[in-house]
Parts: sequence; structure tokens; C-alpha cells
Amino acid sequence: MEELNPSELGTHEYWEDRYKDEIENFCKNGDPGDIWFGENISDQIIQWINKTNSIKKDSKIVDIGCGNGMLLVQLAEEGYTNLHGLDYSEKAIELAKAVAQKQKVNISYVTCNILEEIKDDYDIIHDKGTYDAISLSQNATDHRNKYIENMYASLKNDGILLITSCNWTQDELKDQFSKKFEQAEIIPTPQYRFGGKVGSIVSSCVFRKKSK
Ligand SMILES: C[S@@+](CC[C@H](N)C(=O)[O-])C[C@H]1O[C@@H](n2cnc3c(N)ncnc32)[C@H](O)[C@@H]1O
Repeated sequence: MEELNPSELGTHEYWEDRYKDEIENFCKNGDPGDIWFGENISDQIIQWINKTNSIKKDSKIVDIGCGNGMLLVQLAEEGYTNLHGLDYSEKAIELAKAVAQKQKVNISYVTCNILEEIKDDYDIIHDKGTYDAISLSQNATDHRNKYIENMYASLKNDGILLITSCNWTQDELKDQFSKKFEQAEIIPTPQYRFGGKVGSIVSSCVFRKKSK
């Protein structure tokens, strides 16, 4: 499989600088910053979580690479109570905490490099754009493998990894995760038609942890 060309989006410095600006914006205008891939996709993800019977209001949900934490805020507003956000950018965590305080929602946030420290027993891991960022780092092959290992180790048996990507197609994600996860579902995303072909700009896939 061919790796993507490394880019600044795969570096810690890039995200620190970006969230430093976003905090300033938030303090000035109350704007929490970007919703990656747009509100439509976040809404589709929330709808999928809401309609999935195995997910309870107190299921342990983590958003890895949570950025400003807006997806967790939406989940809190839907009544989910066991919510956790991780990001390796201290500035992102500072922003996410400020946003949660303003919205008066209870979410636990921790600064953490998910390629190094994560190990827990989550029911659901949510990722929107973080596997993409990791795929753009130097040593992307090692980092992607470490990501898959860490996500596997941090989920309860039968746990769910919900991943939204603009860099990989559904088939590529299925292939990359197939050793440790089986694809359970695809969350519909906006489609485009070009030259008689239909495709999606963003893929949103639900994987279930395989038993050992
Ligand atoms: C494209 S942004 C997406 C942010 C957020 N998920 C959203 O949808 O708005 C990617 C995020 O992943 C975080 N990130 C990248 N690599 C990480 C790592 N190894 N550990 C933790 N967070 C990471 C970045 O700091 C950034 O917040």
C-alpha cells in the first residue's frame, strides 16, 4: 500500500500553532473554530450513535484527537454522560475545556499522544480526522500500525471504532484495519458524481473489535 506524502498536518507543532490561534479567536468572538468535514457529517455520526441499540447513554465514549471537542459537546447535549476527549495538543485541550465550560457540559479532557499512552477500556472510540493526520506524519507506516494496535488494546471486547477520513476510501480503511477489526457498517456521507462515477469525499466507517 502506498503511503501519503508527509505534510505539516502530521506534526505536533502545526496543531499547537493552529489551536493557539483558535483559542485567541474563541476568547475574542466565542467561535470554537472548525468542525472538521462539516456539521452534516457530525450530525450523521450522532444520528448513528443515537440509533445503535448497543450504545447506552452511559457508554464510555472517547474522542481521540478531539480538537475543540465539538462532537463531544453535541453528544453531551444528547444526554451521553461518560465522555472523554484526548489530544496531543495542549492548546486543543485548553480550547476544548473552555468550550465545554461555556456550554456547561461535563466532559473529561486529557492531553495525550494516542500513539504512546492510551490504554483503557472504552466502549466506543471516535476519530474524525486524526487517523488522517497520523497518516501524514513522517514514519506513517509505523504510526498507522501503532494506532491500530493502541485502538485495539483500548477497546472493550466487542467495542466499536468509528472513524471518519478524507484521506482513505472505505475499502482502504477496511483493508488497513482488517487484522484487528471487522467492518460493521458504513455511515452515509455526501456523494459526488463525476464522469459517470459516484464517490464520497469523506468515508465514515464503523469497525468492531475482533475477538482474540
Ligand atoms: C483534523 S484534526 C480533527 C480534530 C477533531 N477531531 C475534529 O473533528 O474537529 C486532527 C486532530 O488530531 C490531533 N492529533 C494528531 N495526532 C495525534 C496524536 N498522535 N495523539 C493525539 N492527538 C493527535 C490533532 O492535534 C488534531 O486536534
